[in-house]
Formats: sequence, C-alpha cells, structure tokens
Amino acid sequence: MTNESKIIDGKAIAAELRAELAKKVEARVAAGKSVPGLATVLVGDNAASQSYVGMKQKACAKAGIKSFGIKMEADATQEEVEKVVSDLNANPEVHGILVQLPLPSHLDEEKVLNAISIEKDVDGFHPINIGRLAQKGREPLFVPCTPDGCIYLLDKIGAQIEGAEAVVLGRSNIVGMPLALLLVGRNATVTVCHSRTKDLPAVCRKADILLAAVGRPEMVKKDWVKPGAVVIDVGSNRIEDPSLEKGYKWVGDVDYDDVIDVVGRITPSPGGVGPMTIAKLLDNTVRAAEIADGK
Ligand code: GUN
Repeated sequence: MTNESKIIDGKAIAAELRAELAKKVEARVAAGKSVPGLATVLVGDNAASQSYVGMKQKACAKAGIKSFGIKMEADATQEEVEKVVSDLNANPEVHGILVQLPLPSHLDEEKVLNAISIEKDVDGFHPINIGRLAQKGREPLFVPCTPDGCIYLLDKIGAQIEGAEAVVLGRSNIVGMPLALLLVGRNATVTVCHSRTKDLPAVCRKADILLAAVGRPEMVKKDWVKPGAVVIDVGSNRIEDPSLEKGYKWVGDVDYDDVIDVVGRITPSPGGVGPMTIAKLLDNTVRAAEIADGK
C-alpha cells in the first residue's frame, strides 16, 4: 500500500454525505414538508468558537438548511441563556439547537444543556442522550457529531470494529468519552487513556484502532502505533511555523510524517475528522426535522 492510499479522505467523504443530505432536504421541501432549521447559540467572543459556528452556518446554507444564529454577550446570565434555549425549544422553525462549547466559566454548562429539548439536541450532549448512549439496549435520539463522524469514517473504510482493540486518547465530554461509548456499543474492546495513564506508548501500541483526541500537537509518534493500525486523528491544533507567511499551521494530535510508514490507514488533520463533524451536525438536523414531522 502506498502512503497516499493510506489516507482516509474525510473531506471527500463528508462532501458526499453533505450532498446526499442536500438532496434529502430538497426532496422533503418539494413534498411540502418544513425546511430543516438549526439554531446556533454563541456566548461571548472566543475566536475559535466564532469560526466553528460560522463554518456550521455556511454548511447549513449549502445543504438548504435554515440557520438561526444567536449571539450573546460574554457576561450573559444563566437565566438569559436558558431563556434563549427555552424560546428556541418552542420555535417550530427550529429543529436543532446547538449551544457552542465551551461556555464562559460563570455559566453552568450542564444546566444549559439540560434545558435543550431532547428532540432538538442535535449535538447529543443532553444528559438523557448521553445517559442512553452509556447504557445497553437504550438508544439516544442523537449522538455527538465528532465521535459519530469517527465511526462513520471507520465504517466507510470497512474497518473491523467488532472485537478490535480500540484505544481512545482523551476523555472529554465532547469527544473522548462518547467515542469510547460508541466503540463499546460496537463491540470493540476499549481502553480510554488520559493524563495519568502509565506508559502511554505501550498502551497505544496494543491498538488495532487508535483514536487521538487530547489536543496535544503531534503527540503520537511512530513507536506508539502497531504496524497496520487504523489511526483516527481528532486533534486540531494551531502551532507556530515561522517558515510560513502566515506564521502558523494546523496539525493533529498525531505526528503524521512520523507515523505514516507504520499505519494501515490514517485520517489527516486538517481534512479528516473535522469535516465529518459538520456533516454529522447537518445529518442530525435533518433527522430532527423528521422527528418533528412525526409529532
Ligand atoms: N465545541 C467543540 N466542539 C463542539 C461541538 O461539536 N459542539 C459544540 N456545541 N461545541 C463544541
């Protein structure tokens, strides 16, 4: 296998899914059903959050999904944010609600997420949806977009998840933990690593599927990877690079150049998992509109 053919092209796979969703939206609107609507709630002026929300809104527009952008001041109160969410719950044009995280530290994130109607919880972060994800025989209405995107990529390349040794680096609420839960649900044997894990390279070397979501630039090196393993790099880190005119570049949690000769398949970063997060958000929003149709 050439190194080129090891690349899992998340950008192309996401574009395909987005095109399918755009067709689905067109068909439902032609059939007289509602235009799917996504509300994004952005509190404060975190530059990365602003850019993510902007990308999500742009992708919505391209797929024929209506987006409602709500911006709140950084000092918005708990009551104000919950009121916005409750108004969106009641708005029939809004099928999905996304509260961009992290919220400013004075706000109670759990309470805000809890205020979102579970039928509109397109991020899958509502405690009931996460709780169902963690339990056998229970189905969440929505699954968090980034972890779901990782599973979608694994399925797309025909990776064997059942029975595989999967190692997840990171235990965040947004990626690591829900990703581990999804993999358990697919009958992988899952190890979740974190800052206190002893001998990380040795633990990672056991993995048939290695998924990195720690936010540490290029942490995973060649000797962390079992030859032939599938590597999913969720990381997206901005690092300085004086050799470039703009002075910086984006890299993943995996040292791509170091591991490429060893891996079986790998997602690049950028261009791997990132585009899938957005495609899955659109997918969830269209499904939220379908759930509303049935009510
Ligand atoms: N912050 C980083 N990733 C995400 C995400 O997928 N959804 C939300 N709401 N906030 C995020």
